[in-house]
Order: sequence, then C-alpha cells, then structure tokens
Amino acid sequence: MPLSHKVSSDSPIGMFDSGFGGLTVARALIDLMPQENLVYIGDTGRYPYGNKPADEVRGYAKELAWSLVREYGAKMIVVACNTAASVALDELVDELPVPVIGVIDPGARALVRVTRNNKVGVIGTVGTISSGAYVQAIRTTGASVALTSAACPGFVEFVERDQTTGDEVMVLAERLLAPVRDAGVDSLLLGCTHYPYLSRVISDVMGSGVVLVSSADETAFVVKQELEATQLMRAGATTGEHKFLSSGDIAWFAQLGRRLLGPELETATQWSNNKI
Ligand code: DGL
Repeated sequence: MPLSHKVSSDSPIGMFDSGFGGLTVARALIDLMPQENLVYIGDTGRYPYGNKPADEVRGYAKELAWSLVREYGAKMIVVACNTAASVALDELVDELPVPVIGVIDPGARALVRVTRNNKVGVIGTVGTISSGAYVQAIRTTGASVALTSAACPGFVEFVERDQTTGDEVMVLAERLLAPVRDAGVDSLLLGCTHYPYLSRVISDVMGSGVVLVSSADETAFVVKQELEATQLMRAGATTGEHKFLSSGDIAWFAQLGRRLLGPELETATQWSNNKI
C-alpha cells in the first residue's frame, strides 16, 4: 500500500456498479453498519456491462475504483457488480492500495449453505456466466453440488427502466430460466446485483420451493469482518454520510434510486472520469 494513501475509520467505503444494481448491496451495508460513510458510483452512462468485452469492463472497473480511492479517499472498495468482479477483481486486489471486496465468493458460499438437494443454480449476465467465475467460486467452497448456470440478457435493462413486473419481463424470464428450472435446483443465486429487484418474477417462474439467494447480505458481512480485521470500522452511533454519484442522468438516478434503495438516496451527483 503506497504511503501516500492515508485512510481512517471516518474514510468512506467506496462501491460501484454499472447502475442501480449495486444499491441492493448498499442497502445491506447501510442496514448492517449505519454509522459508516459511503460513496456509491452507478455507471449508468456506460451500462450495461454484461454484454461488453471483458477488457472494456475491466477498464471501467479500474477507473471507478481508482476514482473512489483518489477523489473520495475510500478506505475499502466493494465491487457491487458481478460482471465487473468476474473479470477485474484479482487485478483490483493487486493494484489498489486498499482492501477490495467482491460479491462472487460471498454469494457462492451462501448458495451452497442453503441447498438441501445439492442442486444449485446461478443466473447472471452473459459476461459473468461466460467468465466461469461462479464455477470457480463454487469449486473453492469445496461443496459437492451440481451447478446449472444461465445467462439472462435483458434482465438488467428491465430494472434500469423500472419495469420489474408485467408480461414482457415475465415472458423473458420464462424463457431464460428454463434451464435452471428444468435442472431441479432448490436454490438459485441471483448472480447479478440487479436481479433482486426482479425477485417476484423470478420466484413466480421458479416456484415457491426454490430459495432465491442474493449476495448482498453476505457481502455486507464480509465487509464488516474486513473493517474489524483492519481496525477501520467507524465507531459511534452517528449515522454516516451516504453519497451517490452517476455517470448518466442524475435526475433519473435520484428518482429511481430513491425508490429502490430508500430515503438515504436524496440526491445524485454527476460522476465523470475526466479527472483520472
Ligand atoms: N449489476 C451488474 C452485475 O451484477 C449488472 C451488469 C450489467 O450492467 O449488465 O452483473
């Protein structure tokens, strides 16, 4: 860690996603550690990541993570995007001067914990599923489970448009979830941070016997452990400051973001990569 990067427990946790999806992780972090300061960047100006080449997504992830460290003094980075984590986490861990936490390993651990029939499913973007990151993460858990994966192109766009119910999204879900439903999985990991906003549709298609697992809570617990281990947990009962930035339309980010995350998202500020 370069000596020039000084952080303290009052420094914010920095997090990013391609858009609104990482707000599921932000919600879990705020609920678990309300006293922490937080800076969130939604890269809505360049979303979706899921259908873009790995190199391009890796480049975006580095820009965002370095911006959070250099411009906002982040004490830790949470990659609240499966697509970015699946192609960039190792490099971010190597090059950043602060701890970096992804959503993939925490999600995989939660998934193998809840299954009873040892048939598990993971859904994610084309980028995440084709990276093989979840196959690797499940293998790392050491659990003896049969994994079925399915890419769900289009899901993210529905969330970003605030269209989380209705016939159109249901028809798409019926088609894309068929492989995991037919495999008889009893637990399904929502391997894209946008997907918890589609839980109702996904659950209707999969049936009430299938447990939907989101990596948000699990990731928040890992962040807490890491802050404790590095003695960077913010003390006291004062609620932290929560700052939200977007590279796209900030009025839309504030409007939909507040509905998805809650009252902590009062306003959004423009983020641009010019200064990096
Ligand atoms: N929330 C991102 C993820 O977890 C969505 C990626 C996208 O923009 O396609 O993968």
